[in-house]
Amino acid sequence: MADKNASAPRATDNRSTVPVSDIFRQYISSDWAERTEGDPRPREQSEWAAARRARISMLYPGKRLLIPAGAAKVRSNDTDYAYRAHSAFSHLTGWASDSVPGSVLVLEPTVAGHDATLYFRKAAGRDSDEFYANPEIGEFWTGPRPSLAQVSHDLGLLTVDLADFERVLDTVDADTIILREGDRDLTDQVDGRRLLSADAESLEIDADTALARDLSELRLVKDAYEIEQLRRAVTATKKGFDDVIADREAIVAHERGERLVEGTFNRRARAEGNAVGYDTIAASGAHACILHWTRNDGAVVPGDLILMDAGIELDSLYTADITRTLPVSGVFSETQRLVYETVREAADAAFAIVRPGIRFREIHATAMGVIAKKTAEWGFLPVSAEESMKPENQFHRRYMVHGTSHHLGLDVHDCAAARRDLYLDGVLEAGMVFTIEPGLYFQPDDLTVPEEFRGIGVRIEDNILVTEAGAENLSIGIPRTADDVEAWLR
Ligand code: GLY
Ligand code: MN
Repeated sequence: MADKNASAPRATDNRSTVPVSDIFRQYISSDWAERTEGDPRPREQSEWAAARRARISMLYPGKRLLIPAGAAKVRSNDTDYAYRAHSAFSHLTGWASDSVPGSVLVLEPTVAGHDATLYFRKAAGRDSDEFYANPEIGEFWTGPRPSLAQVSHDLGLLTVDLADFERVLDTVDADTIILREGDRDLTDQVDGRRLLSADAESLEIDADTALARDLSELRLVKDAYEIEQLRRAVTATKKGFDDVIADREAIVAHERGERLVEGTFNRRARAEGNAVGYDTIAASGAHACILHWTRNDGAVVPGDLILMDAGIELDSLYTADITRTLPVSGVFSETQRLVYETVREAADAAFAIVRPGIRFREIHATAMGVIAKKTAEWGFLPVSAEESMKPENQFHRRYMVHGTSHHLGLDVHDCAAARRDLYLDGVLEAGMVFTIEPGLYFQPDDLTVPEEFRGIGVRIEDNILVTEAGAENLSIGIPRTADDVEAWLR
């Protein structure tokens, strides 16, 4: 079955102390009050999700599409990681942080398009022992699950118990396409059925890959609901940065101050949202030169910079992705300020060109123009900035090996399966949201730069919305000039 929870072997039976007598079973199953359903009005996101389903439906006439939410992932034995549904599933259903693990959206082809049905493991009744005896999914153990009617109202979808999903599997044929990465176990079962189906000559893996691509590309332009969620994610994230600044004294006093930065930010993320959208990067001093420093076990030392790359994922699962680099003492040194303001110049130059009609890759090229010019001026490059900008040279990239921008949405690196033609080589459209995040990183042992630059790492990352007229920096409210950062810290 799709619900791996239901079938995966877990090492609990030999520890179970649940009474098994019939007397106990009868007793615990009796005398429970009737349940009342929650708000029957559809959720705001349900209409948006319906419009997205209509768009994918048009691309796949006559094909059955399976979009799994995915099963819970075992961390060890009977302990799971926090559950998060696959982003494509959330995008097409509107079901987000409260999705039930193992759910599957089925788009069944009709003459007019597709009928959508959401299969999920419905709440178990008091006539089964699940509610008290099943530590994986029982209500007494992990909380109640909604009824079929409740989710149907919430999301405006036909809902069916996952126990009946076997009927869908029985009709799997060569015209069935699955989002493979959504649920590997379910995909294996679908592959098996497709091989058995009379007209299937091979697994439909090419079609599956195309579906993953199309679902990714469906998210390149955000609708009004998504833009509002991203605004809110940025607002929540700003509060997380404010919290860290307010905690500065304790952070500096602790030998693993970076962990306190992470903890303080993550506290805000859990309070205001679902979680962090990715592991918080709290990189003090030379750790800032390690792009995805998430070990965060270093001290935060006055005189150094601390690079903080963090984003709050809301209950809707939309996330911000913000980086600020702060002088721990409250004031930049001369060299730190020079590097910082250069990175800001690169970010500002990149932002200035954003408008519908330009190519995504031009943003990176513009930022790199500033980075090449400045590092050449400082004498760090073996050639001129113009020479360095040639594709075969790129000496300046020694100090910034990452890209300048990525799409942002339900995933921090959103739309990752989109074709290059629509992503890197794509043309910007109003409604796209992406980061602009240039940086300069001078490794502590880099002999090409003067000593005072070594160990300095700076990144400034903002979340940008393409508008009809140009662009809006959604994170402009989080201080980003060197002067404003110093004022923020005061
Ligand atoms: N925030 C981390 C990254 O964009 O890679
Ligand atoms: Mn980023």
